[in-house]
Amino acid sequence: MRRAKITGVGHAVPERVITNRDLEKMMDTSNEWIVSRTGIEERHWVTEGEGTSDLAIRASRNALHQAEIDPREIDLVVVGSLTSDYFFPGVGNQLQDKLGLDTVPSFDIKAACSAFIYALSIGDQFIKTGQANTVLVVGAEVQSTALDISTEGRDMSVLFGDGAGAVILQPSNDDTGILSTHLHSEGKYLKELWCEAPASRFNPRLSPEMLAEGRQYPKMNGREVFRNAVTRFPEVIQEALEANHLTLDDISLIIPHQANLRISQMIAKKLGLSMDRLFSNIHKYGNTTGASIPIALSEALTEDRIHSGDNIILAAFGSGFTWASAAIRW
Ligand code: COA
Repeated sequence: MRRAKITGVGHAVPERVITNRDLEKMMDTSNEWIVSRTGIEERHWVTEGEGTSDLAIRASRNALHQAEIDPREIDLVVVGSLTSDYFFPGVGNQLQDKLGLDTVPSFDIKAACSAFIYALSIGDQFIKTGQANTVLVVGAEVQSTALDISTEGRDMSVLFGDGAGAVILQPSNDDTGILSTHLHSEGKYLKELWCEAPASRFNPRLSPEMLAEGRQYPKMNGREVFRNAVTRFPEVIQEALEANHLTLDDISLIIPHQANLRISQMIAKKLGLSMDRLFSNIHKYGNTTGASIPIALSEALTEDRIHSGDNIILAAFGSGFTWASAAIRW
């Protein structure tokens, strides 16, 4: 069976930078608390009128440029996103239109912080089976417009940022490419990290009463998320290794979803790795949900952290709970 290979990577973030000091002016928090608990120093937030699709199109154009292909070569668009511009349709449809892709199929995957790996896995299957030859896979999010930036919402609002990353998948003609993907979920934890409204189980989907109660804001049981994340990340990385008969010595870089520096440090400790084996850029972007892995991949390449023939592992954990990994030979 043929293998899919990443032939172009790109990312984009909004221009507006929000530092921890900026947050200190909005709520009762401190740079010291945020840096010590999360490793985050600043994040990018959209400005009025800027949507997820705007970031997605910029990231996609950068990936297309790197792959040196014309957008019309794309025959499938898959976007991992929790935060489509509108309730429906999805970002994929907007992206498909903005790239002038005629009637090419496009859709969104809602798998929170694991969405990019879920989307990558779908693109991989389409290439493997010969149903597609060039797939645009995107992770794109605008979380900032959903956050409660008062002191009441500080446990969540200091964590998240906006951004997008994109890759082009094409058939590989050698032994490089996506070696495996592993996807998991455990829906019993859905309320540990969730956003209740607007929702189809309410009529109207969002009422003034719900707004007054703050039910439109994402909520999280931080400790429960942390506890599960530091178990599932190492587990799904080991699963990728075993499936490919590899050991950690064969892996030059692990790119974890950028949830929290302390989670990455715990993953490194559990795997017996030094932190330089795990990519981190959370200090600049915060947690960009489904966008964090392709943004990190894009920066890892720019920083020359990945070379031809290297084995790397992408790994994610997030709301749902969902978790996933992808092993890639570059
Ligand atoms: N600034 C200042 N204080 C804050 C704060 C903020 N932004 N957010 C919460 N606090 C306060 C709380 O009100 C609480 O105060 P209290 O003890 O007086 O009640 C205290 O800090 C909690 O501190 P602590 O128990 O040390 O928090 P923590 O070590 O559990 O860290 C998280 C909180 C959210 C950083 C941590 O639980 C975490 O990283 N969880 C995983 C989050 C994550 O990655 N989610 C996304 C997954 S995809």
